[in-house]
Amino acid sequence: MFKAVLMPGANELEKIAAEIVTCVKCPLHKNRANAVPGEGNPRAEVMLIGEAPGAEEDKQGRPFVGAAGRLLNEALEKAGFSREEVFITNIVKCRPPRNRVPTEDERRACLPYLHRQLEVIKPKIICLLGRTPLETLIGPYSISKMRGRTIEKDGWLFFLTYHPAAAIYNPSLKEQFLKDIQKLRELIHRDERRRGSSLDEFL
Ligand code: URA
Ligand code: SF4
Repeated sequence: MFKAVLMPGANELEKIAAEIVTCVKCPLHKNRANAVPGEGNPRAEVMLIGEAPGAEEDKQGRPFVGAAGRLLNEALEKAGFSREEVFITNIVKCRPPRNRVPTEDERRACLPYLHRQLEVIKPKIICLLGRTPLETLIGPYSISKMRGRTIEKDGWLFFLTYHPAAAIYNPSLKEQFLKDIQKLRELIHRDERRRGSSLDEFL
């Protein structure tokens, strides 16, 4: 019989997504219309991680489809990325009430899904969008000091920039955000895997 040829990793990502949409491991499941597992290329070299779904994401079950998503799309396009070549997700997969920052407990409950997605996709570089993913995956560092920089931690290469929602109404942040995503594109072309800054520089 005909068997669909799937990209390696697609099945595993679907399995993770299926678990997420029925997940009740933290209280955020109570108010969601739709969980937002994330989407994109199962073999993406670049993974982008935001904070949590907002209203529009909750409605559609897709990441970054509201105002912040439009700016993210603009930045990706200007840098020469297509949304189809990257993978986009969030620290927590369900929308916090009134878009509040997800609590530590909620992040801890949800993180195993993100780690599994990382293990399947194995991106060359992980772009953290703003303070929540920075704090959660790296530590309590300042985004304005870290932005535009690469950091190696736990065997992964991270790249830091602002959250697009922070850049929407602030022209100077927007300019820096667009530049950072451009730099992300350049990093992919050079292999800077072994050239990330050490975290010690930021202590
Ligand atoms: N903000 C985020 O952090 N993630 C989304 O998916 C949308 C807005
Ligand atoms: Fe489960 Fe994560 Fe949603 Fe919490 S936010 S219910 S841990 S999928």
